[in-house]
Amino acid sequence: MDFVGSHILSVSQFDRHAIEEVFAVADQMEPYARRQRVTRVLEGAILGSMFFEPSTRTRVSFGSAFNLLGGEVRETTEVKASSLAKGESFYDTARVLSGYSDVIVMRHQQEGSVAEFADASRVPVLNGGDGSNEHPSQALLDLYTIRKELLSKNKTIDNLTIALIGDLRYGRAVHSLCKLLSLYNNVSFTLVSPPELTLPGDYVEDMRSRGHTVTLSSDMSGIGGADILYVTRTQEERFPDPSEAEKYKGLFRLNQTIYTEYCEPNTVIMHPLPRDSRANASELDIDLNDNPNLAIFRQTDNGVLIRMALFALILNVANQVDTHSRAVNWYTAKRF
Ligand code: CP
Repeated sequence: MDFVGSHILSVSQFDRHAIEEVFAVADQMEPYARRQRVTRVLEGAILGSMFFEPSTRTRVSFGSAFNLLGGEVRETTEVKASSLAKGESFYDTARVLSGYSDVIVMRHQQEGSVAEFADASRVPVLNGGDGSNEHPSQALLDLYTIRKELLSKNKTIDNLTIALIGDLRYGRAVHSLCKLLSLYNNVSFTLVSPPELTLPGDYVEDMRSRGHTVTLSSDMSGIGGADILYVTRTQEERFPDPSEAEKYKGLFRLNQTIYTEYCEPNTVIMHPLPRDSRANASELDIDLNDNPNLAIFRQTDNGVLIRMALFALILNVANQVDTHSRAVNWYTAKRF
């Protein structure tokens, strides 16, 4: 895969070699994300950050990643604060905003919207999430986290056993992650969800056709034997009738009691976040917060590394990052 100048719209663009390339550059970014060193390699560059759907992690970590490489960020949030609200097309918006930026990250509720926008853009565009379709940078950071967590247990992504729990129909992070994991060998997937919210059939067919085992479970006993638990929120904003989502909230909750009953003591717990901590949902209970296998905040920290790596590769500065760097000159007690 040639990263330089490329749009990142789908994980289907990646093979294992390209993934390893991203991970190697992400590893190289650690001293900068940990505030041990500062680099100005993207000094003068501008990121257009356009999030037309709510976001905390993806929006802020893409922005932080660009800042950590020395670049500036210009943000547009919400459709109503942009001229899309006046009927402007993605084509015109892309033509205009790509004149103001060197690279753009975009999130929008409509599937395929980021690809449509990218077609008209004069600069590379990264998909920050398009409806229920894909969330490529989330899947890359999830895979990077899985690899790191398994490494400390002397395991690899090949031969992984993973349980995906919750709303697998509308969860775009799960969709992208399943595609990436399918590139590895002999993965066992257990899909724990209500039948109405299981993974779309084309994903399951593709995973099986690549030789992976896919098992469906409609109760939490399905999580037994997994190396990784990947819990997801009921994506109420994607239901045609949001009140319908209420039926599914709280059906599959992971808490310390369930974990102790079904899991090996070192089973890793992941979630793309945000988790819904309201009493009627609580799919990932806060009583797991002190469980050392809870990797959710290691995932969010890894997101900065992965997004720095994507920018460095797309803008062709990965091998210049260290030359434009120095030690930090302020107090820092950041611990990871
Ligand atoms: N995981 C994720 O996409 O989080 P945000 O919606 O907060 O960006």
